[in-house]
This record gives sequence, structure tokens and C-alpha cells, in this order.
Amino acid sequence: MSDRTLGFGGGKVILVGEHAVVHGQPAIAAGVRRGVRARATLGPRDRLSIEPWGVRVEPNAAASEPLARAFDRALAFQGQRPPLEVHAEVELPPGAGLGCSAALGVAVIDAVDRYLGVRRERADLAELALSWERVFHGAPSGIDNTAAAVGGLLRFQRGSSVQVVRSRAPFYVVVAHSGESSETKVMVEAVAERCRTEPVESGRALEQIGHLVDQAEAAIRDGDLNTLGRTLDGNHRVLRTFGLSTPKVENLCEAARRAGALGAKVTGAGGGGCVIALAQDADHAIRVRDTLPVDAFVEELGHAA
Ligand code: MEV
Repeated sequence: MSDRTLGFGGGKVILVGEHAVVHGQPAIAAGVRRGVRARATLGPRDRLSIEPWGVRVEPNAAASEPLARAFDRALAFQGQRPPLEVHAEVELPPGAGLGCSAALGVAVIDAVDRYLGVRRERADLAELALSWERVFHGAPSGIDNTAAAVGGLLRFQRGSSVQVVRSRAPFYVVVAHSGESSETKVMVEAVAERCRTEPVESGRALEQIGHLVDQAEAAIRDGDLNTLGRTLDGNHRVLRTFGLSTPKVENLCEAARRAGALGAKVTGAGGGGCVIALAQDADHAIRVRDTLPVDAFVEELGHAA
């Protein structure tokens, strides 16, 4: 399998700002190495197969199966073309806050582009994948598909162009899966409902998250991990007030802090899914990972691309 035929969409963690980003605040996301790889080949008909899920779908704009509708949208971006079989390999858990659906959308569109010889900027790929994301998440902010296509450390805000966040030095987070999954659409709607019923308190909380994003960005730039850790903890406390944590998530955050993590929080949509914990350095990250009683991995962030 030559690299030139292989489409890729990366997973992501949100360091600070999830949910608030849907309501116009900034957020910082970081691409992770795990993601989705996809390859398109000439087929008897259009078909998408996804491993390790054992899923096969054909494109259908009217299907009740969201994947069939999303695949239909992904193919609609191309002009005249032969029938294509797209085979995707997913390395991310679905419903865990790591941007699995966005990574899949980006990988599929990228694979079809590559087969057809279409050259596209990664930022344009992100834009197309938003249409795929809408099938699953209703009205997403666009941060997941942007991170999936562009990768690296990003500051994202609706209506502004995405910015690369410069970091003084690499830093290390442990990504740990609570084992619980949730639907982003349901969690986003729950926050929106809270904003409708308690507009003043919710507005304040979302603004507070926006300030934490600014502090986190400055801390990353200055290499100030203690402050960065405090912004993670602060962000988690606000997310908890929106009901986005669970007892398992709380236990994981606590266990990571007891192991010396500088901060820990739920990442992504919440309601379960993954926790990120900021480690003191690379070796400490491995120690934190090893103390957690769940599937976890270490990610180096802020390295030179
Ligand atoms: C999900 O990864 C991030 C959310 O903020 C939703 C979105 O931004 O579309 C919860």
C-alpha cells in the first residue's frame, strides 16, 4: 500500500474549550497520532467498509443509517468518477471524545481524492468533512474535522481562521478511556438546553472557559506546565457543572492527580469517554499511564511538525 493512495484523518484531544466552542468561545485542540487510514480502489459499486467494526455500507442520502448518508455526502464532492470501494481502518474508540467520526470522514474524503488524483489543501478537506460531521452531530462547531484534517496544536474559534498554537517545548498528556461512551449530539444538546433555561449562569460559565483557553494558550507558549495544568482542572470544574462528568471520569481524574498529574479533565463531548491528564515530563507520563486502571496511552504534544 503506497502512502500516496492512503487517506488519513487524525484523532484529537481538546485541551481546553469543548462545548464552549459550540457557543462561539475559542478552544485548543491537539491532533493525536492515532486516527483512521482509508484507501479507495476501483469497485463493482460504491461501498465503504470499516474495520475493525465489520461495517459495510453503500451511499444513500435517504437511508436511516447515518454512515450511508455521510458516505453519500463524501462522494457528492467529486465529479465524474468510476465506482469506488473505500476501505477504512479505525484506530480510535467511537463515542470517546477522540474525534473518531471526524477522522473517518476526513480519511474517506482524502482516500477518494487520492484515488482520483484530486489535490486539496488540508484546510479544504476539513471544510468538506464538516458536511460528513453534520450527519452525526447536528450542528458541530467544526473543531473535530479541523483537527482531524490539519493536526498539530490548534486554536479554533467559529468564524475565525484556525491558528497554530506555538509551544515552547513538547509536553505530555495521558489519554485514558473511562470505558463509557456517549453521543456528542446528545451532550451538545444538553448544554444548549442549559443555556436556554439558565442563560445568565451558563453564559458566564462559557465565558470563563474562554478565559481559561487564553490562559492555557499563554501557558503553552511560555512552557508553564503548572499553569496549564490548573487551566485543565478549572475547565473540568466548569464542565462538571454542566453535567458532563461521570463518577468514572471523576475517579480517573483523581487517580491521575494523585499520581502527580498537573491537571486532568474530561475531553471532548463528555458524559464518559476519555480523560486527559497533563504529566510533568515524558517519563512521568508513562508512570501516570501505568497507575490508571483503564486503557490509556501517552501523547506528546507541541512537537515540531
Ligand atoms: C466534541 O469533540 C467537541 C464539542 O465541543 C462539540 C463541537 O465542538 O462540535 C463537544
